[in-house]
Amino acid sequence: MCGIVGYIGDKKATPILIQGLTRLEYRGYDSAGIAVIENNKIEVKKDKGRVSNLTLLDGIDNLEATIGIAHTRWATHGKPSKENSHPHMDMEGLFAIVHNGIIENYNELKNDLTQKGYKFISQTDTEVIVNLINYYYNQDKNEDELKFLRAVKNACMDLKGSFALEIISNKEPEKMIVVRKDSPLVIGKGNGESYIASDIPAILSYTRDFYFLNDYEFAYLSRNNIKFYDTNLNEIKKETKAIEWDSKGAEKDGYEHFMLKEINEQPKAIRETIGTRLNNSKVSFDELSFTREYLEEINKMYIVACGTAMHAGLVSKNIFEKLCKIPVEVDIASEFRYRDPLINNKTLVIYISQSGETADTIAALKLAKAKGAKTIAITNVIGSSITREADYSIYTHAGPEIAVASTKAYTSQVTMLALIALYFAEILERADTNKINTIKEDILKLPNKAEEVLKDTSEIQEVAKRIYKERDMFFLGRGVDYAVSLEGSLKLKEISYIHSEGYASGELKHGPIALIDIGVTVIATITNKDLVEKSISNIQEVISRGAKIIVVTNQNIENKGFDTIIRIPEISTEISPVLSIIPLQLLSYYISKEKGLDVDKPRNLAKSVTVE
Ligand code: F6R
Repeated sequence: MCGIVGYIGDKKATPILIQGLTRLEYRGYDSAGIAVIENNKIEVKKDKGRVSNLTLLDGIDNLEATIGIAHTRWATHGKPSKENSHPHMDMEGLFAIVHNGIIENYNELKNDLTQKGYKFISQTDTEVIVNLINYYYNQDKNEDELKFLRAVKNACMDLKGSFALEIISNKEPEKMIVVRKDSPLVIGKGNGESYIASDIPAILSYTRDFYFLNDYEFAYLSRNNIKFYDTNLNEIKKETKAIEWDSKGAEKDGYEHFMLKEINEQPKAIRETIGTRLNNSKVSFDELSFTREYLEEINKMYIVACGTAMHAGLVSKNIFEKLCKIPVEVDIASEFRYRDPLINNKTLVIYISQSGETADTIAALKLAKAKGAKTIAITNVIGSSITREADYSIYTHAGPEIAVASTKAYTSQVTMLALIALYFAEILERADTNKINTIKEDILKLPNKAEEVLKDTSEIQEVAKRIYKERDMFFLGRGVDYAVSLEGSLKLKEISYIHSEGYASGELKHGPIALIDIGVTVIATITNKDLVEKSISNIQEVISRGAKIIVVTNQNIENKGFDTIIRIPEISTEISPVLSIIPLQLLSYYISKEKGLDVDKPRNLAKSVTVE
């Protein structure tokens, strides 16, 4: 939520800032702005609307500055408007700031500052921060080289909530300060220049060497140097980490939308996620040094996440319980963190987060850790906040995911969770070895089978053309297919704005069947051969009430009055969601496209939800 970019070096800053914002637009797109220092003076250009509007603003092309900060906004405090757009300046115009996060005590701070004579022109919490910096700067009678930094540090210590900040000042026109707490921010090291952004892909075309800040670490940047400080303003040393992602991952690469590109990247993403973990011997996880004694003692596992990542958890409950015989509860992070869950040192909690920045998931992780549980984070983003909190971090290697609707991250997460379940199962020896070996062999087949699913999408495009005007749809499934129906339904609603519900097929007649009427579309997934008969009889119940049925299946099912049957390759049921979700992702994509919607940036949504 909100994206920030910064540049300091010897190149013209504006194009770099705008390109970075364009790549971060999936994080928020209701207003955008930049601030640069030109001739020792701060120049701000901002407005409501998308980043592309920025390029139309008067005089923006003439800015020659080589230092600047920029922001694309997802409104939290204050409606989308020019006044509320970032960057914000203090009352005297000494500082400019961009902010991603939420300041929880901003009202209190604003009242304090108002009493001291400060005036505000926006409704944002950010304008409070920049005036607080002004206050501390003016209070400080020392004129040394750390005065700017001291003012920022003092202001930050008063803030409650989350923030990633970039600050420039016409008092120090050759300097920039960045700091973060619970909001993402990375610093890319160039040659005599530095790039700052909310995430790695935004600046990956400039550098592969990144600094990652911990909470309350301050980076004081000049053109060819960065110094890092702790909260006592003692200098600290930080090392860069090399990032191996291909910068093409952050480009559309000939596809019309990132979502379609990312759907098509799934075979590669799954292959990379499997990596070398599966070979002829046991599944290997060097990151997890779990002993048999420890695993035998676990009395409960939780899998905690939000949205699509939580749906990946729902799929995996089945494989963990079957192969490891450990009870698993899957929970939504925002619920888990406030429901006082039963946790002790025999509990293992797995957290899943593509971005590694989701506020609720990170808070839920801190809670379990404080209660003595061991915690594993599965994430796609190296150095993300969650990896700094978890006892163990495991990376899916899906590559950058830019479209707001998650696709390749989901299939990589399901694959990774299956690998972890197998790893535990081989240590615990509680499951049939043949079963374990079949799933291992099938995991290796997933990339090629995903390619098969993606080969011909014409039938799905036809279906999309037939049903894109509908107002309601239903997704049905049993077992893992139920988890897939929830994810299929989420994909549809978020990018097509069609109301949809995912239901366990057997549950339909306990209420929701009242909504089934002539012409309503029902999409059923069937991948478990033991449940085929039961699933078909549930489908007959809705057909007899006039519903149009689309079936996605890997079973040899006859078409018994269905509108369409989409066939996918057979695979072990436990991992079938990796394949069965693909037609549903494509269907949502083509429906959204048919409706002429902004597929990659659906309304009201942002890619990473760094606020509660
Ligand atoms: C839906 C979607 C969201 C995310 C959720 C968690 O397509 O992308 O539901 O899955 O916001 O995000 P992460 O995985 O980054 O924690």
